[in-house]
Amino acid sequence: MFEKVLLALALFCAAVALGPPPMAAPLNTAAGKPPMSKAQPTVKARPGSPEKKTDGASKTNAPGEGKKSPSGKALSEKVPVKKAPPGRAPPEKTSATPPAPIPATSEAGKKIFADKGCGGCHATSGPEKRIPVTERANIKGPSLWYAGSKFRPGYPAKWLASPKAFRGVLHGTMKKGVTPHPGLSPDEAKAAGAYLESLRDAEMPSGVVPSWKKIPRRVLRRARILFQKKQPCYACHRVKIRKTVYRTPIKLGGFSGPHLIDAGLRLRPDFIAAFLKNPARYNPNGRMPIYSDKAFTRLSEKDIIGLAAYISTFKEKP
Ligand code: HEC
Ligand code: HEC
Repeated sequence: MFEKVLLALALFCAAVALGPPPMAAPLNTAAGKPPMSKAQPTVKARPGSPEKKTDGASKTNAPGEGKKSPSGKALSEKVPVKKAPPGRAPPEKTSATPPAPIPATSEAGKKIFADKGCGGCHATSGPEKRIPVTERANIKGPSLWYAGSKFRPGYPAKWLASPKAFRGVLHGTMKKGVTPHPGLSPDEAKAAGAYLESLRDAEMPSGVVPSWKKIPRRVLRRARILFQKKQPCYACHRVKIRKTVYRTPIKLGGFSGPHLIDAGLRLRPDFIAAFLKNPARYNPNGRMPIYSDKAFTRLSEKDIIGLAAYISTFKEKP
């Protein structure tokens, strides 16, 4: 009996002693390889992104961008440089020559816009012309000639101090983490924001979407059905919404258009309505369907107002 136990123990020990080496070797290589072969495609999976072109511009312009690049590659290279708040810490540390304060005026902003080459990617006068599809790859960024009519007050400054990509496919020069958008210091961002907010579309009507304290239930309900069922808005726009079948809000939707997750914080309701009526005015080279056209299930004025009010309730953090 005792011998048997000893034998079993010995066998067990031998198995343990012998076991690992043959196991360990394949395990190691196995553990080493898959992440590599996985990592390579994900790096390659962003083909044709004009990394080089924009990299220089963004590097010279962005004070704290290292933090904002979610791509593993960029991050691991930049980890040591990781500075916390862009533009806030440096003046105290360097203390050599404190830069002159930048007034938050649109004149100062216009100068920043020119100095930083923002105009190379953004149109500040419009309406623009429709150009052949083959030339659209040259469009580097969304038009800003109507920025003041489009954005909620304060949004451009906030975004520019910490820009995060919100488009998936179009304007792919800013693919998440590959080429971060040039960032600005908080002061620069405020000035640039003031400048952008001074750019208005004189023809865009305002006061179209009522500023309901609480959107009437039937308006909201119809808009939700339009957005989720009748018109496949989220086929192209990522959103965080409560679908009828789920109790809690979920993120879902396509990437052809900019996400609308925080659209209520970003866009003026009147702009959403104006854009839905006539997207070609704001982006003649975009792919947003024209819902006031007969080719689509037409949206009535009421539908458009309801949708604009509904979309303005999207206020999640992206
Ligand atoms: C290399 C091209 C490029 C340069 C240079 C550039 N931008 Fe942009 N910008 C983009 C792209 C692309 C987007 C769209 C980002 C997205 O969709 O995720 C964008 C988005 C924006 C937005 C947000 C627009 C929106 O619809 O919410 C603002 C505001 C903006 N840029 C301002 C600026 C300012 C100010 C500068 C100069 C400091 C600047 N940009 C420089 C390419 C550029
Ligand atoms: C076929 C894809 C597609 C569908 C379907 C679609 N959109 Fe869009 N939408 C886009 C694209 C692409 C843009 C970006 C245009 C641009 O770059 O200015 C856009 C832009 C927008 C914008 C402006 C956002 C911004 O930041 O400029 C709003 C608002 C919007 N869509 C709402 C809707 C609503 C509401 C519906 C449903 C009734 C809808 N979209 C359906 C593709 C789509």
